[in-house]
Amino acid sequence: MRKPLIAGNWKMFLNVTEAAELAKTVCNSNIDYSKTDVMLAPSFTNISVVSAALKSAGKPVALAAQNVYTEENGAFTGEVSIPMIKSAGADAVILGHSERRIIFKETDEFINVKVHKSLGAGLTVVLCVGELLQEREAGVAFEVVLAQLGKSLAGVNDLSKVVIAYEPVWAIGTGKTASPGDAQAMHAVIRGFIARIYNNSAAESIRILYGGSVKPDNIADLMKETDVDGALVGGASLKADSFLKIVNY
Ligand code: PGA
Repeated sequence: MRKPLIAGNWKMFLNVTEAAELAKTVCNSNIDYSKTDVMLAPSFTNISVVSAALKSAGKPVALAAQNVYTEENGAFTGEVSIPMIKSAGADAVILGHSERRIIFKETDEFINVKVHKSLGAGLTVVLCVGELLQEREAGVAFEVVLAQLGKSLAGVNDLSKVVIAYEPVWAIGTGKTASPGDAQAMHAVIRGFIARIYNNSAAESIRILYGGSVKPDNIADLMKETDVDGALVGGASLKADSFLKIVNY
């Protein structure tokens, strides 16, 4: 059985004080960690303070960066490396988010390098894939997502620290959620792909999250689908109340 994972992607929101407060509130709330894994993904500047809050509460909440650069150090003004996020307390990283792909022009090949380096450094990777509205309307959503997956995971042999997040771009921050049936259809195709490229046991154990306007009132229906193993939550993760309702769906 795959254990559900609910991850909060705080994007470029919250200052240091607000991030620490939100992390503390999440930690002080009633969460049955034997039933659900929880992950928080603050901005780079807030990783340390969230890490400190998680440690002092002693709660098993995973801590992810929202991105990372490929090099360990050097003259790369403005970038943040894997050793840096690890030393700040991160044990995971979100890679290939559509906002990185679209706004910052990240390619599957670049994401693939980051996936290799992050896994090599022992981080858990939450790899995001998802189609644009035009691609869904053109009937090519499955092939677009599988192409992203194939390229982003090229040369990766061990998926034990990989989580896939299916996030249809048209559903992110728009209030439009994929129907549970549409999410399930894509998740099943993704799992089938993992079974073909890797093996059945990798396919059975990998967690596939859904992301895109996940809210307290739609999480339960999404989670009823057999291949939906959790959620990557943006907007609704910024308020303790809505995030906790999702975690405790
Ligand atoms: P949203 O974002 O929940 O605000 O749609 C999800 C995401 O981008 O991870």
